[in-house]
Amino acid sequence: MSSVVEVCDLTMVFEKKVYRGLWSFQAPYMLFRDFIGRLTGSTVVERVVALDGVSFKVGRGEIFGVLGPNGSGKSTLLKILAGLLIPTGGSVFVLGYDVSRESAVVARKVSLITSIVGAAFIVWSLSVRRNLELLAELYGVSKSRVDEVLSFTGLREVEDTRVGFLSTGTVARLIVAAGLLKNSELLLMDEPMMGVSAEFAVKFRGLVRRLNRELGTTIIYATNNLVEAQELCDRVAILDRGKLVVCGRPEDLIKSLGKSEVIEVEVANAREDIVEKLKELDGVVDVNFEWSDSDALRMYKGNLRIRVWNAREVLPRILEVLIRRFDAEVRSIEVFKPNLLDVFLHYTSHVEGREGR
Ligand SMILES: Nc1ncnc2c1ncn2[C@@H]1O[C@H](COP(=O)(O)OP(=O)(O)OP(=O)(O)O)[C@@H](O)[C@H]1O
Ligand SMILES: [Mg+2]
Repeated sequence: MSSVVEVCDLTMVFEKKVYRGLWSFQAPYMLFRDFIGRLTGSTVVERVVALDGVSFKVGRGEIFGVLGPNGSGKSTLLKILAGLLIPTGGSVFVLGYDVSRESAVVARKVSLITSIVGAAFIVWSLSVRRNLELLAELYGVSKSRVDEVLSFTGLREVEDTRVGFLSTGTVARLIVAAGLLKNSELLLMDEPMMGVSAEFAVKFRGLVRRLNRELGTTIIYATNNLVEAQELCDRVAILDRGKLVVCGRPEDLIKSLGKSEVIEVEVANAREDIVEKLKELDGVVDVNFEWSDSDALRMYKGNLRIRVWNAREVLPRILEVLIRRFDAEVRSIEVFKPNLLDVFLHYTSHVEGREGR
């Protein structure tokens, strides 16, 4: 399998000015704050290491997932692969082009599809077709391509409807259609399903699979949704604080956790300190609590996700701690095999944002 993307020791450092004290106010000092800040030492340049020594390859025809907590560097990585950002260090080859030298060529050849939240290019007062025609003109692709993508994405029925009247799911489809106009060999998707319904997300996964299987498009898919990643991706890379912590096929990564089991306990009156106590128990590998509120991941506030070596053996001890020590009101208990979420929890610090690192 030839590589479509080759990333070696990629580093991306952002520098941003931080204004402290009086000079942190925007107005009326804006014009002078750089100057005065430098004089008084109240302007500091902070370095944010968004990507730190990342290396991986993506083969032709793969669906490759990029996972990571908020601020772990997923979007930065995709922007670099799209030729929109030049890396600070390392080498990045996309479709054989060096991103540092030929970013404009890469940007022309590769499509980056974002979520509705990030899609600023849409003109809401124009029809679906008109939006696509304008983009086709901008990209220099033929009008017949507009018809092709309208059909492929199932937008024919609404092609004359103004975008402002469409449901969120249909707008998400339009964003994908726009991404397909260039007929790129490589599609980059940055959390494309953010803000759409769970029902549409299922349909969307079907669309991504069709793109991959029928057209042979290589897809790099950044997401925070582990269910989506497990279903869709041939391989995934997990980023944590800008570092690639693990990469492989979801099933192999799950196997790498060993023969552990997951116990999920819903506790009505859970407390943060329960976690530490449970971690001390023999046979308990990992405990997570209130990590996410996404229903797709079956994690709610008050849910404890406890990974253990042998559920049958450890469960009585867990319940004793919960009920006797913490007087916890246990609502439900479920035991299941680990999934990609457990891999994610195992390898990441799940700390959000690293502004000013
Ligand atoms: N233009 C920029 N200037 C300064 N810092 C930046 C810039 N873009 C990103 N960062 C920082 O780089 C880090 C990685 O951000 P990035 O957006 O790539 O993360 P992410 O994994 O996509 O997060 P999310 O899941 O929230 O989308 C963050 O600390 C972010 O604040
Ligand atoms: Mg992002």
